[in-house]
Amino acid sequence: MSEISFHILTLFPEMISGGLRCGVIGRAALKGILSFDAVNIRDYTSDKHGKVDDYPYGGGAGMLIQAQPVYDAYRAVAGGRKIRTIYVTPQGTPFTQQKARELAAEKELVFLCGHYEGIDERVLEEIVTDNISIGDYVLTGGELPAMVMIDAIARLVPGVLGNHSSAEEESFHNDLLEYPQYSRPEEWQGKKVPEVLLSGDHRKVAAWRLQQAETRTALRRPDLYEKYSQKQCLIRLMAQDKRNKIHMTESLARGYAEILYSDIREKEVSALLYDRDRQTVLASAADEASGRELADYLPEDTKLAVVSEPFMKELLEKRHYRVLGVYSQVLYTGRESLSVKHKDIRQLSMEHYVWVCRRCCDGYGGIRREYIRKRIMEGDMYGAFVQEQPAGVIGFHEEGSLGMLFVEESFRGQGLGASLESYAVNRMLEKGRVPYGYVEKGNLISEKLQEKLGFYKAEKTFWRLEKMLANRC
Ligand code: ADE
Repeated sequence: MSEISFHILTLFPEMISGGLRCGVIGRAALKGILSFDAVNIRDYTSDKHGKVDDYPYGGGAGMLIQAQPVYDAYRAVAGGRKIRTIYVTPQGTPFTQQKARELAAEKELVFLCGHYEGIDERVLEEIVTDNISIGDYVLTGGELPAMVMIDAIARLVPGVLGNHSSAEEESFHNDLLEYPQYSRPEEWQGKKVPEVLLSGDHRKVAAWRLQQAETRTALRRPDLYEKYSQKQCLIRLMAQDKRNKIHMTESLARGYAEILYSDIREKEVSALLYDRDRQTVLASAADEASGRELADYLPEDTKLAVVSEPFMKELLEKRHYRVLGVYSQVLYTGRESLSVKHKDIRQLSMEHYVWVCRRCCDGYGGIRREYIRKRIMEGDMYGAFVQEQPAGVIGFHEEGSLGMLFVEESFRGQGLGASLESYAVNRMLEKGRVPYGYVEKGNLISEKLQEKLGFYKAEKTFWRLEKMLANRC
Protein backbone atom coordinates (compact mmCIF):
# COMPACT_ATOMS: atom_id res chain seq x y z
CA MET A 1 0.00 0.00 0.00
CA SER A 2 1.41 3.39 -0.96
CA GLU A 3 1.81 6.21 1.56
CA ILE A 4 -0.49 8.53 -0.39
CA SER A 5 -2.66 8.21 -3.50
CA PHE A 6 -3.40 11.11 -5.84
CA HIS A 7 -6.45 10.88 -8.10
CA ILE A 8 -6.57 13.57 -10.75
CA LEU A 9 -9.85 14.25 -12.57
CA THR A 10 -8.91 15.86 -15.85
CA LEU A 11 -9.70 16.29 -19.53
CA PHE A 12 -6.01 15.76 -20.36
CA PRO A 13 -4.82 12.63 -18.51
CA GLU A 14 -1.77 12.25 -20.76
CA MET A 15 -0.51 15.63 -19.53
CA ILE A 16 -0.63 14.42 -15.93
CA SER A 17 0.87 10.98 -16.48
CA GLY A 18 3.60 12.49 -18.68
CA GLY A 19 4.42 15.19 -16.14
CA LEU A 20 4.46 13.05 -13.03
CA ARG A 21 6.30 10.09 -14.53
CA CYS A 22 9.70 11.81 -14.39
CA GLY A 23 12.23 12.65 -11.69
CA VAL A 24 11.88 12.19 -7.96
CA ILE A 25 8.09 11.83 -8.01
CA GLY A 26 8.16 9.27 -10.83
CA ARG A 27 10.77 7.21 -8.95
CA ALA A 28 8.71 7.32 -5.75
CA ALA A 29 5.73 6.03 -7.71
CA LEU A 30 7.81 3.20 -9.17
CA LYS A 31 8.92 2.26 -5.64
CA GLY A 32 5.27 2.21 -4.55
CA ILE A 33 5.71 5.01 -1.98
CA LEU A 34 2.97 6.98 -3.72
CA SER A 35 0.54 6.36 -6.53
CA PHE A 36 -1.44 8.49 -8.95
CA ASP A 37 -4.15 7.87 -11.45
CA ALA A 38 -5.30 10.38 -14.02
CA VAL A 39 -9.01 9.89 -14.60
CA ASN A 40 -10.40 11.17 -17.89
CA ILE A 41 -13.62 13.07 -17.16
CA ARG A 42 -14.66 12.52 -20.78
CA ASP A 43 -14.80 8.75 -20.18
CA TYR A 44 -17.76 9.40 -17.89
CA THR A 45 -19.96 11.57 -20.09
CA SER A 46 -23.39 10.23 -20.94
CA ASP A 47 -23.38 12.31 -24.16
CA LYS A 48 -23.10 10.00 -27.15
CA HIS A 49 -20.71 12.39 -28.92
CA GLY A 50 -18.37 12.54 -25.92
CA LYS A 51 -19.27 16.14 -25.14
CA VAL A 52 -18.56 17.32 -21.57
CA ASP A 53 -19.29 21.06 -21.86
CA ASP A 54 -22.22 23.36 -22.53
CA TYR A 55 -23.21 27.03 -22.55
CA PRO A 56 -23.68 28.81 -19.21
CA TYR A 57 -27.24 29.76 -18.21
CA GLY A 58 -27.66 33.54 -18.21
CA GLY A 59 -25.24 33.93 -21.09
CA GLY A 60 -21.60 34.96 -21.13
CA ALA A 61 -18.47 33.94 -22.94
CA GLY A 62 -17.20 30.37 -23.17
CA MET A 63 -18.38 26.97 -22.09
CA LEU A 64 -18.70 25.21 -18.75
CA ILE A 65 -17.85 21.60 -17.84
CA GLN A 66 -21.14 19.93 -16.95
CA ALA A 67 -21.89 18.43 -13.55
CA GLN A 68 -22.72 14.87 -14.61
CA PRO A 69 -19.38 13.66 -16.09
CA VAL A 70 -17.42 15.25 -13.22
CA TYR A 71 -19.64 13.66 -10.61
CA ASP A 72 -19.49 10.23 -12.22
CA ALA A 73 -15.69 10.42 -12.58
CA TYR A 74 -15.49 11.34 -8.89
CA ARG A 75 -17.78 8.48 -7.88
CA ALA A 76 -15.68 6.07 -9.92
CA VAL A 77 -12.68 7.04 -7.78
CA ALA A 78 -14.27 7.56 -4.39
CA GLY A 79 -17.11 5.03 -4.45
CA GLY A 80 -18.97 5.72 -1.24
CA ARG A 81 -15.92 7.21 0.54
CA LYS A 82 -15.49 10.89 1.32
CA ILE A 83 -12.03 11.86 0.05
CA ARG A 84 -10.50 15.30 0.48
CA THR A 85 -11.11 16.88 -2.91
CA ILE A 86 -9.26 19.92 -4.17
CA TYR A 87 -10.71 22.07 -6.92
CA VAL A 88 -7.75 23.70 -8.62
CA THR A 89 -8.95 27.20 -9.40
CA PRO A 90 -7.67 30.78 -9.54
CA GLN A 91 -10.62 31.59 -7.21
CA GLY A 92 -9.13 29.42 -4.44
CA THR A 93 -7.07 30.24 -1.36
CA PRO A 94 -3.34 30.50 -2.07
CA PHE A 95 -1.29 27.30 -1.97
CA THR A 96 1.52 27.49 0.61
CA GLN A 97 4.15 25.22 2.16
CA GLN A 98 1.89 25.02 5.21
CA LYS A 99 -0.97 23.74 3.04
CA ALA A 100 1.39 21.25 1.39
CA ARG A 101 2.28 19.87 4.82
CA GLU A 102 -1.34 19.64 5.84
CA LEU A 103 -2.27 17.76 2.65
CA ALA A 104 0.76 15.46 2.90
CA ALA A 105 -0.81 14.00 6.05
CA GLU A 106 -3.76 12.63 4.03
CA LYS A 107 -3.79 9.07 2.68
CA GLU A 108 -5.74 9.99 -0.48
CA LEU A 109 -6.40 13.20 -2.38
CA VAL A 110 -8.56 14.02 -5.38
CA PHE A 111 -7.59 16.95 -7.64
CA LEU A 112 -10.24 18.33 -9.93
CA CYS A 113 -8.81 20.23 -12.89
CA GLY A 114 -11.05 22.78 -14.57
CA HIS A 115 -11.01 24.01 -18.17
CA TYR A 116 -12.90 26.48 -20.32
CA GLU A 117 -14.77 28.95 -18.15
CA GLY A 118 -15.12 26.59 -15.20
CA ILE A 119 -17.35 23.83 -13.87
CA ASP A 120 -21.07 23.73 -13.00
CA GLU A 121 -21.30 25.01 -9.41
CA ARG A 122 -23.66 22.23 -8.28
CA VAL A 123 -21.09 19.45 -8.61
CA LEU A 124 -18.46 21.60 -6.92
CA GLU A 125 -20.81 22.01 -3.96
CA GLU A 126 -21.31 18.27 -3.88
CA ILE A 127 -17.71 16.99 -3.95
CA VAL A 128 -15.15 19.77 -3.31
CA THR A 129 -13.63 20.20 0.17
CA ASP A 130 -10.90 22.76 -0.71
CA ASN A 131 -10.59 25.44 -3.41
CA ILE A 132 -6.90 26.17 -4.00
CA SER A 133 -5.03 28.52 -6.34
CA ILE A 134 -1.32 28.48 -7.10
CA GLY A 135 -1.12 32.23 -7.65
CA ASP A 136 -2.79 35.38 -8.87
CA TYR A 137 -2.65 34.64 -12.57
CA VAL A 138 -4.88 32.63 -14.85
CA LEU A 139 -3.75 29.54 -16.73
CA THR A 140 -5.65 27.70 -19.45
CA GLY A 141 -6.41 24.71 -17.22
CA GLY A 142 -5.92 23.10 -13.84
CA GLU A 143 -3.43 20.39 -14.85
CA LEU A 144 -0.25 22.41 -14.32
CA PRO A 145 -1.39 23.81 -10.95
CA ALA A 146 -2.44 20.30 -9.85
CA MET A 147 1.01 18.98 -10.77
CA VAL A 148 2.68 21.85 -8.90
CA MET A 149 0.72 21.00 -5.77
CA ILE A 150 1.26 17.25 -6.11
CA ASP A 151 5.00 17.81 -6.46
CA ALA A 152 5.13 20.01 -3.34
CA ILE A 153 3.02 17.54 -1.33
CA ALA A 154 4.76 14.38 -2.54
CA ARG A 155 8.26 15.53 -1.59
CA LEU A 156 7.08 15.82 2.03
CA VAL A 157 5.92 12.21 2.13
CA PRO A 158 8.42 10.08 4.09
CA GLY A 159 10.70 8.10 1.80
CA VAL A 160 10.14 10.22 -1.33
CA LEU A 161 13.28 12.32 -1.03
CA GLY A 162 15.35 9.35 0.14
CA ASN A 163 17.50 11.57 2.26
CA HIS A 164 14.97 12.67 4.86
CA SER A 165 17.09 15.55 6.10
CA SER A 166 16.41 17.47 2.86
CA ALA A 167 12.77 18.07 3.77
CA GLU A 168 13.76 18.84 7.34
CA GLU A 169 16.43 21.28 6.25
CA GLU A 170 13.82 23.31 4.46
CA SER A 171 11.76 23.77 7.61
CA PHE A 172 14.84 25.08 9.39
CA HIS A 173 15.10 27.84 6.83
CA ASN A 174 11.45 28.46 7.26
CA ASP A 175 10.41 31.99 6.25
CA LEU A 176 13.70 32.60 4.45
CA LEU A 177 14.60 32.19 0.81
CA GLU A 178 17.44 29.82 -0.07
CA TYR A 179 21.03 31.06 0.08
CA PRO A 180 23.10 31.04 -3.17
CA GLN A 181 24.82 27.76 -4.10
CA TYR A 182 27.97 27.02 -6.11
CA SER A 183 29.51 23.96 -7.71
CA ARG A 184 32.73 23.19 -9.60
CA PRO A 185 34.79 24.83 -11.04
CA GLU A 186 36.09 27.12 -8.30
CA GLU A 187 36.38 29.89 -10.87
CA TRP A 188 34.05 30.40 -13.85
CA GLN A 189 34.25 33.34 -16.26
CA GLY A 190 36.35 35.20 -13.71
CA LYS A 191 33.80 34.67 -10.93
CA LYS A 192 35.11 32.89 -7.83
CA VAL A 193 33.22 30.74 -5.35
CA PRO A 194 33.01 32.62 -2.00
CA GLU A 195 36.06 31.63 0.03
CA VAL A 196 34.16 30.64 3.15
CA LEU A 197 32.57 27.74 1.24
CA LEU A 198 36.01 26.27 0.60
CA SER A 199 37.13 26.64 4.22
CA GLY A 200 35.69 23.35 5.51
CA ASP A 201 34.55 25.23 8.63
CA HIS A 202 30.91 24.11 9.00
CA ARG A 203 30.00 26.79 11.52
CA LYS A 204 31.34 29.58 9.33
CA VAL A 205 29.57 28.11 6.29
CA ALA A 206 26.27 27.93 8.20
CA ALA A 207 26.63 31.52 9.44
CA TRP A 208 27.43 32.77 5.92
CA ARG A 209 24.45 30.92 4.45
CA LEU A 210 22.09 32.33 7.05
CA GLN A 211 23.32 35.86 6.46
CA GLN A 212 22.96 35.42 2.68
CA ALA A 213 19.45 33.98 3.09
CA GLU A 214 18.45 36.91 5.30
CA THR A 215 19.82 39.52 2.89
CA ARG A 216 18.20 37.86 -0.11
CA THR A 217 14.86 37.60 1.67
CA ALA A 218 14.95 41.22 2.87
CA LEU A 219 15.61 42.37 -0.71
CA ARG A 220 13.32 40.05 -2.67
CA ARG A 221 10.53 39.28 -0.20
CA PRO A 222 10.20 42.04 2.41
CA ASP A 223 6.85 40.52 3.48
CA LEU A 224 8.52 37.23 4.41
CA TYR A 225 11.42 39.02 6.05
CA GLU A 226 9.05 40.96 8.30
CA LYS A 227 7.46 37.70 9.48
CA TYR A 228 10.89 36.15 10.00
CA SER A 229 12.13 39.12 12.07
CA GLN A 230 9.09 38.99 14.34
CA LYS A 231 9.63 35.30 14.89
CA GLN A 232 13.36 35.66 15.60
CA CYS A 233 12.64 38.41 18.10
CA LEU A 234 10.17 36.19 19.97
CA ILE A 235 12.55 33.22 19.87
CA ARG A 236 15.36 35.34 21.35
CA LEU A 237 13.14 36.59 24.17
CA MET A 238 11.73 33.19 24.97
CA ALA A 239 15.21 31.66 24.93
CA GLN A 240 15.94 33.74 28.05
CA ASP A 241 13.50 31.45 29.85
CA LYS A 242 14.66 28.40 27.94
CA ARG A 243 13.82 25.85 30.62
CA ASN A 244 10.14 26.73 30.61
CA LYS A 245 9.75 27.67 26.97
CA ILE A 246 11.92 25.27 25.03
CA HIS A 247 8.84 23.62 23.45
CA MET A 248 7.74 27.00 22.09
CA THR A 249 11.15 28.12 20.84
CA GLU A 250 11.81 24.76 19.16
CA SER A 251 8.37 24.67 17.51
CA LEU A 252 8.89 28.17 16.18
CA ALA A 253 12.49 27.65 15.10
CA ARG A 254 11.65 24.40 13.32
CA GLY A 255 8.71 25.93 11.49
CA TYR A 256 6.02 23.87 13.19
CA ALA A 257 4.14 26.77 14.72
CA GLU A 258 3.02 30.24 13.76
CA ILE A 259 2.52 33.20 16.07
CA LEU A 260 -1.14 34.02 16.64
CA TYR A 261 -0.54 36.44 19.50
CA SER A 262 2.51 37.88 21.22
CA ASP A 263 2.91 40.57 23.77
CA ILE A 264 6.08 41.66 25.53
CA ARG A 265 5.84 43.73 28.72
CA GLU A 266 8.95 44.38 30.78
CA LYS A 267 10.62 41.41 29.13
CA GLU A 268 7.75 39.16 30.20
CA VAL A 269 6.48 37.30 27.16
CA SER A 270 2.92 36.20 26.56
CA ALA A 271 2.48 34.19 23.41
CA LEU A 272 0.04 31.96 21.65
CA LEU A 273 1.55 29.68 19.03
CA TYR A 274 -0.44 27.45 16.74
CA ASP A 275 0.72 24.25 15.14
CA ARG A 276 -1.87 24.14 12.37
CA ASP A 277 -1.03 20.65 11.12
CA ARG A 278 -1.58 19.12 14.54
CA GLN A 279 -4.25 21.64 15.58
CA THR A 280 -2.28 22.23 18.76
CA VAL A 281 -1.78 25.52 20.60
CA LEU A 282 1.19 26.26 22.82
CA ALA A 283 0.47 29.09 25.21
CA SER A 284 2.36 31.01 27.83
CA ALA A 285 0.98 34.06 29.61
CA ALA A 286 2.84 36.49 31.84
CA ASP A 287 -0.27 37.14 33.98
CA GLU A 288 -3.95 36.37 34.15
CA ALA A 289 -5.04 39.45 32.19
CA SER A 290 -2.70 38.56 29.30
CA GLY A 291 -3.97 34.99 29.56
CA ARG A 292 -7.57 36.12 29.02
CA GLU A 293 -6.54 38.29 26.08
CA LEU A 294 -4.55 35.48 24.54
CA ALA A 295 -7.41 32.99 24.96
CA ASP A 296 -9.54 35.12 22.63
CA TYR A 297 -7.17 34.18 19.81
CA LEU A 298 -7.62 30.44 20.25
CA PRO A 299 -8.50 29.00 16.82
CA GLU A 300 -11.93 27.39 16.53
CA ASP A 301 -10.47 24.11 15.30
CA THR A 302 -7.95 23.66 18.15
CA LYS A 303 -7.80 20.07 19.37
CA LEU A 304 -4.95 20.19 21.88
CA ALA A 305 -3.41 22.84 24.11
CA VAL A 306 -0.14 22.83 26.06
CA VAL A 307 -0.02 25.42 28.84
CA SER A 308 2.30 26.11 31.73
CA GLU A 309 0.32 28.38 34.08
CA PRO A 310 -2.43 27.20 36.47
CA PHE A 311 -4.70 30.13 35.49
CA MET A 312 -4.35 29.21 31.83
CA LYS A 313 -5.35 25.65 32.64
CA GLU A 314 -8.41 26.91 34.56
CA LEU A 315 -9.30 29.35 31.80
CA LEU A 316 -9.26 26.57 29.23
CA GLU A 317 -11.26 24.26 31.45
CA LYS A 318 -13.96 26.93 31.50
CA ARG A 319 -13.82 26.84 27.69
CA HIS A 320 -14.54 23.14 27.55
CA TYR A 321 -11.06 21.71 27.55
CA ARG A 322 -10.19 18.73 29.76
CA VAL A 323 -6.81 17.80 31.17
CA LEU A 324 -5.18 14.86 29.39
CA GLY A 325 -1.97 14.81 31.37
CA VAL A 326 0.27 16.72 33.76
CA TYR A 327 3.96 16.89 32.96
CA SER A 328 7.33 18.30 33.86
CA GLN A 329 9.49 19.54 31.05
CA VAL A 330 13.10 18.38 31.06
CA LEU A 331 15.93 19.68 28.92
CA TYR A 332 19.58 19.01 28.40
CA THR A 333 21.49 22.27 28.29
CA GLY A 334 24.98 20.80 28.03
CA ARG A 335 26.92 20.79 24.78
CA GLU A 336 29.00 17.70 25.38
CA SER A 337 27.68 14.41 24.09
CA LEU A 338 26.77 11.61 26.51
CA SER A 339 28.45 8.26 26.73
CA VAL A 340 26.37 5.39 25.39
CA LYS A 341 27.08 2.09 27.14
CA HIS A 342 24.94 -0.21 25.04
CA LYS A 343 26.60 -0.42 21.65
CA ASP A 344 23.90 -1.91 19.46
CA ILE A 345 21.50 0.99 18.93
CA ARG A 346 20.18 1.58 15.41
CA GLN A 347 17.65 3.52 13.47
CA LEU A 348 14.48 1.42 13.19
CA SER A 349 12.94 0.46 9.88
CA MET A 350 9.44 -0.67 8.93
CA GLU A 351 10.44 -4.26 9.65
CA HIS A 352 10.18 -3.29 13.37
CA TYR A 353 6.85 -1.47 12.97
CA VAL A 354 4.69 -4.20 14.51
CA TRP A 355 7.02 -4.62 17.46
CA VAL A 356 7.15 -0.85 18.16
CA CYS A 357 3.37 -0.54 17.86
CA ARG A 358 2.82 -3.32 20.34
CA ARG A 359 5.15 -1.58 22.79
CA CYS A 360 4.29 2.06 22.25
CA CYS A 361 0.68 2.15 21.04
CA ASP A 362 -0.96 -0.31 23.38
CA GLY A 363 -1.36 1.32 26.70
CA TYR A 364 1.17 4.09 26.09
CA GLY A 365 -0.85 7.30 26.12
CA GLY A 366 -2.79 6.15 23.08
CA ILE A 367 -0.11 6.91 20.47
CA ARG A 368 -1.58 6.11 17.08
CA ARG A 369 -0.13 3.42 14.83
CA GLU A 370 -0.26 5.85 11.95
CA TYR A 371 1.94 8.24 13.93
CA ILE A 372 4.51 5.54 14.73
CA ARG A 373 4.64 4.53 11.07
CA LYS A 374 5.42 8.11 10.10
CA ARG A 375 8.07 8.48 12.81
CA ILE A 376 9.82 5.31 11.57
CA MET A 377 9.59 6.40 7.92
CA GLU A 378 11.13 9.75 8.83
CA GLY A 379 14.05 8.00 10.54
CA ASP A 380 13.10 9.32 13.97
CA MET A 381 12.86 6.04 15.89
CA TYR A 382 15.81 4.15 17.37
CA GLY A 383 16.01 0.69 18.86
CA ALA A 384 18.41 -1.04 21.25
CA PHE A 385 19.11 -4.61 20.15
CA VAL A 386 20.30 -7.56 22.20
CA GLN A 387 21.41 -10.53 20.11
CA GLU A 388 19.53 -9.11 17.13
CA GLN A 389 16.30 -8.88 19.18
CA PRO A 390 14.75 -5.43 19.71
CA ALA A 391 14.88 -4.75 23.45
CA GLY A 392 14.05 -1.05 23.73
CA VAL A 393 12.94 1.95 21.73
CA ILE A 394 13.10 5.75 21.78
CA GLY A 395 12.05 8.39 19.29
CA PHE A 396 11.64 12.03 18.41
CA HIS A 397 8.17 13.47 18.25
CA GLU A 398 7.21 15.54 15.22
CA GLU A 399 7.75 18.87 16.95
CA GLY A 400 11.20 17.79 18.16
CA SER A 401 10.78 16.51 21.73
CA LEU A 402 12.21 13.19 22.88
CA GLY A 403 9.79 10.47 23.87
CA MET A 404 8.27 7.03 23.36
CA LEU A 405 10.98 5.45 25.55
CA PHE A 406 10.23 1.83 26.29
CA VAL A 407 12.38 -1.09 27.44
CA GLU A 408 11.15 -4.70 27.36
CA GLU A 409 10.53 -5.99 30.86
CA SER A 410 13.10 -8.78 30.57
CA PHE A 411 15.85 -6.25 29.72
CA ARG A 412 15.11 -3.68 32.42
CA GLY A 413 17.69 -2.79 35.06
CA GLN A 414 20.60 -3.08 32.59
CA GLY A 415 20.89 0.59 31.64
CA LEU A 416 19.23 0.23 28.23
CA GLY A 417 16.91 3.20 28.90
CA ALA A 418 19.88 5.42 29.77
CA SER A 419 21.76 4.25 26.68
CA LEU A 420 18.79 4.89 24.40
CA GLU A 421 18.21 8.33 25.81
CA SER A 422 21.92 9.27 25.68
CA TYR A 423 22.04 8.07 22.08
CA ALA A 424 19.02 10.23 21.19
CA VAL A 425 20.51 13.25 23.00
CA ASN A 426 23.68 12.87 20.94
CA ARG A 427 21.68 12.75 17.68
CA MET A 428 19.97 16.01 18.66
CA LEU A 429 23.23 17.70 19.60
CA GLU A 430 24.71 16.69 16.25
CA LYS A 431 21.82 18.52 14.58
CA GLY A 432 22.42 21.60 16.73
CA ARG A 433 19.16 21.20 18.65
CA VAL A 434 18.36 21.35 22.33
CA PRO A 435 17.30 17.91 23.59
CA TYR A 436 14.09 18.14 25.59
CA GLY A 437 11.10 16.06 26.55
CA TYR A 438 8.17 15.67 28.89
CA VAL A 439 7.95 13.45 31.96
CA GLU A 440 4.55 12.55 33.32
CA LYS A 441 4.16 13.81 36.89
CA GLY A 442 4.72 10.96 39.32
CA ASN A 443 6.85 8.89 36.93
CA LEU A 444 9.72 8.74 39.40
CA ILE A 445 11.77 6.24 37.39
CA SER A 446 11.80 8.54 34.38
CA GLU A 447 12.51 11.62 36.51
CA LYS A 448 15.47 9.85 38.10
CA LEU A 449 16.82 8.83 34.70
CA GLN A 450 16.62 12.39 33.38
CA GLU A 451 18.40 13.68 36.47
CA LYS A 452 21.14 11.06 36.12
CA LEU A 453 21.75 12.06 32.51
CA GLY A 454 22.04 15.73 33.41
CA PHE A 455 18.63 16.98 32.25
CA TYR A 456 17.18 20.04 34.01
CA LYS A 457 13.60 19.99 35.14
CA ALA A 458 11.65 23.16 34.34
CA GLU A 459 10.15 24.69 37.47
CA LYS A 460 6.74 25.05 35.82
CA THR A 461 4.17 22.30 35.52
CA PHE A 462 2.80 21.62 32.04
CA TRP A 463 -0.73 20.60 31.22
CA ARG A 464 -1.90 18.97 28.01
CA LEU A 465 -5.56 19.71 27.45
CA GLU A 466 -7.98 18.38 24.89
CA LYS A 467 -10.91 20.35 23.50
CA MET A 468 -14.10 18.47 24.23
CA LEU A 469 -16.63 18.05 21.47
CA ALA A 470 -19.71 20.26 21.92
CA ASN A 471 -22.06 17.31 22.42
CA ARG A 472 -19.83 15.88 25.12
CA CYS A 473 -19.91 19.01 27.32
N1 ADE B 1 -6.47 27.33 -13.07
C1 ADE B 1 -6.17 28.33 -13.89
N2 ADE B 1 -5.34 29.20 -13.30
C2 ADE B 1 -5.11 28.70 -12.06
C3 ADE B 1 -4.34 29.14 -10.96
N3 ADE B 1 -3.63 30.27 -10.97
N4 ADE B 1 -4.32 28.39 -9.83
C4 ADE B 1 -5.03 27.26 -9.78
N5 ADE B 1 -5.79 26.82 -10.78
C5 ADE B 1 -5.82 27.52 -11.93
